[in-house]
Amino acid sequence: MRSKTPVLQPRTEQDKAKIAAGRKAIATYLRNDMRIGLGSGTTSHWFVRALGEEVRQGLRIAGVPTSNATREVALEAGVPLLDLNDVTELEITLDGPDEVDRSGRMIKGGGACLLWEKMVARASRRMVCIADDSKIVERLGRFPLPIEVIRFGWRNTAHQLQKLFSEFGYGAVPIVLRGGEETPILTDSAHYILDCHLVAIGDPDRLAPRFNQIPGVVEHGLFVGIAAEMVVGHADGSAEVVT
Ligand code: 5RP
Repeated sequence: MRSKTPVLQPRTEQDKAKIAAGRKAIATYLRNDMRIGLGSGTTSHWFVRALGEEVRQGLRIAGVPTSNATREVALEAGVPLLDLNDVTELEITLDGPDEVDRSGRMIKGGGACLLWEKMVARASRRMVCIADDSKIVERLGRFPLPIEVIRFGWRNTAHQLQKLFSEFGYGAVPIVLRGGEETPILTDSAHYILDCHLVAIGDPDRLAPRFNQIPGVVEHGLFVGIAAEMVVGHADGSAEVVT
């Protein structure tokens, strides 16, 4: 039996804001007998730990984790788990962004979990972004855009991406293999991540579908038209729902 005593101990002001967003999301959206998607990253992990507290208080809920790391946190927190293979639809997914704009468009994949995150979000009737207030931006792109690619021919895939960026007028975009060529990091599906330093993404809606036309691209970290609303947390412990 695993330990079921995770304690919510924020270390930074940002942690407090992340916890506030997660708690507000639980109170706003979660009800008994829901099947939900559990996001990845630190915001989601605080949320999953808070959810574990609710489960111990009697909330009946089960979640599909969007990474092996989240699965571990959920097991420790005592949150019942489901396999995506065993569900056709989830009620809701709650997940954090690396950046989110005021239209709810996000960059995700800073933790290399973007493929599972997008699959689970797309399998959900509703996706809600949970974010501390530092994640809100006027324009996406300062955070490097992660693109998950298969390992075969990854340099050629990077070249195809560069051509796409030129077509969109970005000039020479630094595209960096995450972890470096000596020790590239592998995603939970054993792919590589290419981080694309675009700085400012002018037209995310038009750019996003083009990535999927490049054969070596498995998935990209632009989440457009996915989040229905967001819950924004602040360091003073307050949080609000933004639609
Ligand atoms: C992982 C992700 C994370 O959700 C994103 O990086 C946010 O992380 P954090 O909550 O730690 O800031 O996309 O692939």
